[in-house]
Amino acid sequence: MKILGIETSCDETSASVVENGQLLLSNVVASSMDLHAVYGGVVPEIAARSHIEHMMPVVEKALSEAFYPENRNLELGTRSNINSQLLITNSELDPWDQIDAIAVTQGPGLGGSLLAGVLTARTLAIAKKKPLYAVNHVSAHPFATFLTLQGPSLQEYVLPPQAPEFPMLALIVSGGHSQIVLFQSPLVYELLGQTRDDAIGEAFDKVAKILGLPYPGGPSVGKMAEKGDPFKYQLPKAKLDKPYEFSFSGLKTAVLRLAQAEIGEDYGFPSVQLSERLSEAQKADISASFQRIAVETVVEKTLLAYHEHSPASVVVAGGVAANPELRRQLAEALPIMPIYTDMKLCTDNGAMIATLAYHMAKGGVDPADPYTLDIKPNFPM
Ligand code: KG4
Ligand code: ZN
Repeated sequence: MKILGIETSCDETSASVVENGQLLLSNVVASSMDLHAVYGGVVPEIAARSHIEHMMPVVEKALSEAFYPENRNLELGTRSNINSQLLITNSELDPWDQIDAIAVTQGPGLGGSLLAGVLTARTLAIAKKKPLYAVNHVSAHPFATFLTLQGPSLQEYVLPPQAPEFPMLALIVSGGHSQIVLFQSPLVYELLGQTRDDAIGEAFDKVAKILGLPYPGGPSVGKMAEKGDPFKYQLPKAKLDKPYEFSFSGLKTAVLRLAQAEIGEDYGFPSVQLSERLSEAQKADISASFQRIAVETVVEKTLLAYHEHSPASVVVAGGVAANPELRRQLAEALPIMPIYTDMKLCTDNGAMIATLAYHMAKGGVDPADPYTLDIKPNFPM
């Protein structure tokens, strides 16, 4: 079963083809991140417009690459500049004949962004007469680790040697989500806990902004932290009554207060002027101290869940899975090695959507109605 997965919940326009929830045939991602960088965060209107520009070229490229791997090197165009070499005109070789279903992110995410993907998927499902699966983005993240084989054109992907076993404990950490989930099977899961306020990646992004480091903040704070002392400052770790819940907004505010105090100013000092007054050494120590606490928070909760539920596997998904300090602390704390996938599949992508949709189809979930499917910006897990 070959599924075309479409993902547009935030700033990445992605389409991928996955066979039987395991073989990655193509994964095309067009990010509008550089357009948002000047604003220090994702601007929803810019993201939505960028999806509209890139959606069809990305779908065309994903289909083309999946069935004609030699097309991988062709450049991606935009709506007004579709690369005509990618368009497959010979109807005998129509890649749509090989696609069994379409899957799309229904939510959660930015309304305008989700609309671009859902409307595209609905239109294609009707025009190409394919079943349409509506997928929860957060539930799908861990399924990127189920891709264990790659098609002929994707040799640079580093995939896990085997798929995770159930029960599977998933730590989902990104710019939009911080969740700990126990999966008994692909479709049966329990959300053990999630963030009450900011996601961990969002906290990295906001701390980067305070310190004047480039967006996205995760990699830049991580890099700065390498040069700093993680024990220089004592920052607070949120204590919540529910053991698996996260909160990162207090930590982010504590970083702001610390930065103001370090330069001898009070709480009224504007955060946008902080970075020019902080030395490189102060920025490095603040980055390292923040990163240690943020990472310890998620590692402690993952460890607690591991000991309470004794899962057969632990997977880490989402953009923050790239963080070396997180990987170091998890490897040290957990009795089993957590499973990660290639970075290109940790961040948002259509392949995870197609993979979960495969399990939905196998598990008897009814396809959505392509004439009425609506977006769910607040879709809970
Ligand atoms: O999964 P993702 O691409 O998009 C969302 O669904 O949010 O995650 C992006 C987030 C950003 O907040 C980014 O700062 C963070 O992941 N991130 C990192 C690292 N690389 C990306 N955070 C910490 N360390 C990193 N190396
Ligand atoms: Zn995501």
